[in-house]
Amino acid sequence: MHTEKEEVLSNIGSYEKRCDGFDWGVSKEILSWKDGELLNIGAICSDRVCARGWGDKPALVWEGFGDKKRTYTFDDLKLHSNGFAKLLVDIGIEPGDRVCVFMDRIPSLYFSFLGILKMGGVAQPLFCAFGDESLEVRLASAGTRAILTTQKHVKKVRKIKDRLPALEHVIVVEGDRSKLKDGEGFFHVESADRVEEFDVFPADPETPSVLHYTSGTTGQPKGAQHVHDSIWGQALTTSWVLDLRDDDVYWCTADPGWVTGTSYGIIGPWSLGVTQCVLDSGFTSARWYQFIQDHRVTVWYSAPTAIRSLMRDGEELAGKYDLKSLRHLASVGEPLNAEAVVWSERAYGLPFHDTFWQTETGSIMIANYPGMEIRPGSMGRPFPGIEAGLLDLKTHEELTEPGKVGLIAFRPGWPSMFRAYRGEPEKYRGRFVGARADATPDELRTDTGLWYVSGDRSSIDQDGYYWFVGRDDDVINTGGHLVGPFEIESALVEHEAIAEAAAIGKPDEVNMEVVKVFVTLNAGYEPSGDLELAIMNFIRKRLSPLAMPQEIEYVEKLPKTRSGKILRRYLRALEWGEDVGDLSTLEDD
Ligand code: WT7
Repeated sequence: MHTEKEEVLSNIGSYEKRCDGFDWGVSKEILSWKDGELLNIGAICSDRVCARGWGDKPALVWEGFGDKKRTYTFDDLKLHSNGFAKLLVDIGIEPGDRVCVFMDRIPSLYFSFLGILKMGGVAQPLFCAFGDESLEVRLASAGTRAILTTQKHVKKVRKIKDRLPALEHVIVVEGDRSKLKDGEGFFHVESADRVEEFDVFPADPETPSVLHYTSGTTGQPKGAQHVHDSIWGQALTTSWVLDLRDDDVYWCTADPGWVTGTSYGIIGPWSLGVTQCVLDSGFTSARWYQFIQDHRVTVWYSAPTAIRSLMRDGEELAGKYDLKSLRHLASVGEPLNAEAVVWSERAYGLPFHDTFWQTETGSIMIANYPGMEIRPGSMGRPFPGIEAGLLDLKTHEELTEPGKVGLIAFRPGWPSMFRAYRGEPEKYRGRFVGARADATPDELRTDTGLWYVSGDRSSIDQDGYYWFVGRDDDVINTGGHLVGPFEIESALVEHEAIAEAAAIGKPDEVNMEVVKVFVTLNAGYEPSGDLELAIMNFIRKRLSPLAMPQEIEYVEKLPKTRSGKILRRYLRALEWGEDVGDLSTLEDD
């Protein structure tokens, strides 16, 4: 049923030709951007689209809980992002200051994100389901000066504000103004004075833009700092991988609290002037299909967890809706099972195209491209201009033999690569193999003799397709969200009954992994249902729902290395029914 559309050439055309003599300058050509023009992601995604004569074109087609619906044009996007930009300047926010956006996927999230960038601020989007402790850690790390939130979420900010000396401004952008506390500001952009023109901050390619927090195995989350130069990577991958055209209606299902929701839920598509849909409501398959049908969605970027849920609800349900507007589907965040690719072809007449990347890479690195052969179960091939390889797990030598498992690595130098882990230069340098101990961030960014190591294992077949094997660390991937075991364990051991804790991912049909914890108890405590409830309530306030354990197992002691590090991998292997292997290799301390 889609044959007619498939005959239209994809934006990428021939992969081989695009790889040949590749230059990121083609991204500037796609946006007809001339050197010397104003560089600012906020303006490129709004003002510049209007200047192309698309001011009347829908930019954001929004639906919320219940039957709330709104449509905003690119002119509206320009106006309302100006409104936020001016507000921030008026209260004294300076270029380079971090401004957190902490709200549901309401329109003001999108307006304020662009507004922060327009005035030169650093946008720090945080997932609004985070509890106050998760929020505090990230605001403290970023030295955030202002937070934009809603009446629904401001309570969490109130609890921690006194401990955050840098946080001068709390501004509520939706809700009831009369419910505010002293010192809190209220700003409803759609009823505020219109700001037709705003003097946009002229960014340098290396000017910080977006700060995303991501989880590692040890320590608290790390802030991956991106810069305005990232736009070239985001725009070009949006064009060549997601295949967006001027008349598309595009739906990215990710929340901007995560990098997919900014790189491909704001920046890439709007830089190209494409209409985006946002659904800010809980997931049901029926609601999602209805949304696609109502808005005639053409390109859909989602995640394996959601796809598995749709599969569970069956082809018959999909068949009840008119989904013929769809022409291209893509997925990211976790391994996309071959079965899901085959199923979607049956249910929608179109396969999901898997893509691989990370918060740190800022844009898609490995992908299956439109109009080309998909090998179900494979992540595809490196994006043109990205030099990718596999490194030996131990020696970090490049592997050249097909089928060998190694660490996925990329040569530095692509535009949307992260430029720092905020305040942690050593950790940043640690991500590059071959770097001198005194290498500066600028050297790390430009030295194409180095490898940035992803932390994921894969093999490559003889045709250059990547096949994901697993993560190389203890980070848990639950429904496409990375959760650091350390954060969970830290919250657990704060409870008076718990002596030690180890968090791992355990298999789950829909989320791939869910959190399971092993705990030892302090003297005087016995395992019981009441204790479990008390522990769960205790950590619920501290962790996001994603990080909440689905199971607590009480143990006498935890397996450890000789130097005392908890052997999470051993617990994980037991849980997954895998060969525990040679314990001496697990004791890699
Ligand atoms: C980690 C990055 C930027 C995308 C959203 C997640 C896992 C991502 C795939 C894929 C298997 C994948 C990796 C990666 N991952 N895409 N197609 N197949 N695994 O960003 O939160 O920084 O997570 O997600 O483990 O390292 P993130």
